Amino acid sequence: MKIIRRTSLILLLMTSTFLFAFHLINNYVFEWSIARYKLIELKKELTSDREKFFVLFWTKFFDIPYWNMGNETNGPEYLDEINCPVNNCVFTHNKELIDPIYYYDAIVFHGAQSWGFMDLPAIRSTHQLYVFASQESPAETKHNLVLDDEFYNLTMSYRLDSEILWSYARIFDIQTGQFIAPSKNANWQQPERVEVTTTATDKSLNSVFMKKSKEAAWMVSHCNVFSKREDLVRKLQQYIDIDIYGKCGTLDCPREKTSECIEKYKIYLSFENALCSDYVTEKLFDMMNNYILPVVFNGVGNMSHFLPPKSYINANDFSSVETLGMFLQNLMKNETEYLSYFWWKRYYKIDTKYINVHSFCDLCKRLNENNVNQRVQYYKSISEWWTKGICVNSRIKF
Ligand SMILES: *[C@@H]1O[C@H](CO)[C@@H](O)[C@H](O)[C@H]1NC(C)=O
Ligand SMILES: *[C@@H]1O[C@H](CO)[C@@H](O)[C@H](O)[C@H]1NC(C)=O
Ligand SMILES: *[C@@H]1O[C@H](CO)[C@@H](O)[C@H](O)[C@H]1NC(C)=O
Ligand SMILES: *[C@@H]1O[C@H](CO)[C@@H](O)[C@H](O)[C@H]1NC(C)=O
Repeated sequence: MKIIRRTSLILLLMTSTFLFAFHLINNYVFEWSIARYKLIELKKELTSDREKFFVLFWTKFFDIPYWNMGNETNGPEYLDEINCPVNNCVFTHNKELIDPIYYYDAIVFHGAQSWGFMDLPAIRSTHQLYVFASQESPAETKHNLVLDDEFYNLTMSYRLDSEILWSYARIFDIQTGQFIAPSKNANWQQPERVEVTTTATDKSLNSVFMKKSKEAAWMVSHCNVFSKREDLVRKLQQYIDIDIYGKCGTLDCPREKTSECIEKYKIYLSFENALCSDYVTEKLFDMMNNYILPVVFNGVGNMSHFLPPKSYINANDFSSVETLGMFLQNLMKNETEYLSYFWWKRYYKIDTKYINVHSFCDLCKRLNENNVNQRVQYYKSISEWWTKGICVNSRIKF
């Protein structure tokens, strides 16, 4: 009996060790080298004058089915939702929608998660655009990009130098509907004085300050991260009161109640988990749709590419936690000054809802263009483009 028990224990141990090792090898060491495919050139008549362009999602987007698109196959109605200027594209997760695979005009790969031993298209046509898509920072990129040299023709990410912008929000001019940011050419109007009287133009502002009985809130579920934001928060707590919600704090707020929970706070800490170029997430943009002032901490060099002037406080504009803390203390005491940070609400709208549709609209536009001039381009080293010199140290010392 004893021997059998011991043997099965050993067997169990061996099996689990083997499975664990296999998992590691599968995910981190031996992802298939993907440069192996046969390249073909389709006859012109097969690729031009198409009525529609077909886009295939080769991978899943994490475990979310259909990349949050709702349907397995999405046609013109999907793009019509945001009045995309072109709507002749079909997006699908069904590899058999058209046959063979090398007829698809674009194939999208999720670059942030490990692919393991995933099959890849064996035949590739030169007219096809392979798209690298990611919304994660390089620090959270689990797929081994070193294997993907000369594989992708286009990038789709929050980086402003991607061909297709896939940011966590898009900012529009309310009056003209024009897209403003995120963009390297964002052109904002100058902040204007905010009148806080009953005759003020922005009536919603009158009651905002009255509700603000508390100082700062931070909602967070990852406690120890690359940016070391947790240390910055701890030091900042010496100067201002910070209520921490979620796994790393003592308070709870259901996700759908976020707006109510933060209403009573003057400041929200929009601290990113990694300090990488252009990496600004929903931690910031979701808050901008409330009346709460965000303090940002991220790897962005020029925040004007993302937000209107005087709509946020940037921790990296301060040399020490003390100067930041004192600045915030004074700001929170001054109603006029505090409310002036919401001047932009009359002029700009932050869209966090249709971010995917906007990006797929841009991809569709690109396919329409591409058909005309047939330019050839690809990323020689995607890992270099994605990671080299992209993540930085914080400027504020803590
Ligand atoms: C799914 O497709 C149907 C039509 O086939 C459409 O009515 C519906 O709005 C689509 N759903 C989404 C979320 O796009
Ligand atoms: C920041 O970007 C804006 C465009 O949004 C530009 O006008 C400004 O000159 C840039 N500032 C710096 C310091 O590069
Ligand atoms: C509050 O801020 C305004 C500028 O917005 C300034 O003119 C005023 O002097 C400040 N008040 C105090 C008490 O510091
Ligand atoms: C896409 O990239 C592949 C592989 O580098 C290349 O052979 C092909 O010509 C490129 N196609 C386009 C349209 O840029």
